[in-house]
This record gives sequence, C-alpha cells and structure tokens, in this order.
Amino acid sequence: PSVAVIVVAAGSGTRLGRPEPKAFVPLGDGTLLSHAVRGVLGMREPVQLVVVVPAERVDQTRAQLLAGADASAELAVVAGGELRQDSVAAGLAQLAPEVGIVLVHDAARALTPSLLFDEVAAAVRTRGHGIVPGLPVVDTVKRVADGRVVETVDRAELAAVQTPQGFPRGALERAYRLAGGEFTDDAALAAAAGMQVDVVPGDVRAFKITVPADLRRAEQLVAETAG
Ligand code: CTP
Ligand code: MG
Repeated sequence: PSVAVIVVAAGSGTRLGRPEPKAFVPLGDGTLLSHAVRGVLGMREPVQLVVVVPAERVDQTRAQLLAGADASAELAVVAGGELRQDSVAAGLAQLAPEVGIVLVHDAARALTPSLLFDEVAAAVRTRGHGIVPGLPVVDTVKRVADGRVVETVDRAELAAVQTPQGFPRGALERAYRLAGGEFTDDAALAAAAGMQVDVVPGDVRAFKITVPADLRRAEQLVAETAG
C-alpha cells in the first residue's frame, strides 16, 4: 500500500483513571482501540496498519487483530515508548518500503470516521505537505500571565486540531530525526523541522477521549449509531 496509518495506543490513560491502558478500555461492542482500527479499515484504499501498544499487550493485540473480521490490511503491532512521540517513532520504524504517505492517529480518538482518514490522505497526496484536521474554537480565549488577562486572542486565527495527521513519509522521518524536545502532536514536531502544515476541516466525532465524561459521550454516540 502507498499509505500507512500508525495508531498510537501505548499511553496509560492516567486522566481516564481506569486500571487498564486507555486503548483497552471497553467501548460499545469493543474497545477504544478496536473502534479506532475499524475507522482505519473502513478507508477507501488499502493501507498498512501499524498499531503501537504497551509492551505487555503486543502479543494479545496482534492475535486479536489477526482474528478480526477484516484481517486484509498489512499489519504490524509493536511496543511504544514513554512519550507519545517515542511511540510514533516506534511505529515509523515499521513502515513498508513502498509507503509514501503516513497518517498518525490517536487510538483515544476512537470514533473518528473513515472519511476523515480518506480526506487527510488525499490532501497529503495532492498538496505534498503536512495536513492536520482542525475545528474552529468556540470559546473566547484569553492570554493570561500571573492570573491576569493580557489580551483576548482572535479566535478566527485559532483551530483545535485533531488526528489523523498526515505527512509525506520522507519529510516526517526527517522531522523525527531532527526532533529535540517534547511535542504534543506530530504537526508541531513537523513544523519545528520546517515543514509546511495545512489545516483541513476536522470532524466532531474525532474528539479525544481523555476524562471519564468523554468516555460517557462516546458510549452514547456508539449506542445511537447501533440503534
Ligand atoms: N500514547 C502513546 N504512547 C505514549 C503516550 C500516549 O501511544 N507514551 C497515545 C495514547 O495511547 C493515545 C494518544 O497517544 O491514544 C494520545 O495521548 P493521550 O490522550 O494523552 O493518552 P494517554 O497518554 O494514555 O492519557 P493520559 O495523558 O491521561 O495518561
Ligand atoms: Mg498523555
């Protein structure tokens, strides 16, 4: 396949506060991770799927994904690292030689529609640089210093960004080789290496499950879709 999707699922989920790692928390008829994988496998084109999980979950995850109904995708399951970017780097090391476009996706954005993956991949292909899905910011945002409002930030200039974030493979690999310091997403890491990153429309269903209220919202959405 010319596209690979790296699903990072190696975090512990501290803020969700469950005993199991967040990606393995039940959601509807599966887990956060199984929903995320379903989104990837619903894409228009065949992809290489790279799933990054905690070291002690690698064998179990590989067995479950291979036993799944759609085992047609080329599949790699590897152990993640301490930081999210270490987990992405572990995924990058698994890319098949023919892959030219890489999408990086949070398993925690479990209900992301397949169409958003298709749109990000298509935008990378036609534009040739980094692509992130983003939504308008609805809150009024202030810049604050020492508990005092310094200014109101023009929210027309802001976007709340999501995943999947897509990149030309060579440029993302180069950005990861250059990366010093900690980044909260791949677009920031890519931009630090000088890559142009464009925003395309995101999707509300790509919200990140972070705290218990997010999981309840996800359960509700899954129940509505099933019913
Ligand atoms: N992730 C990862 N490896 C890490 C840290 C995070 O693969 N070392 C993944 C998570 O599994 C998640 C995504 O990156 O799918 C976004 O991270 P986040 O929502 O912060 O998840 P956690 O780090 O697991 O949660 P928390 O920060 O609450 O502990
Ligand atoms: Mg985290």
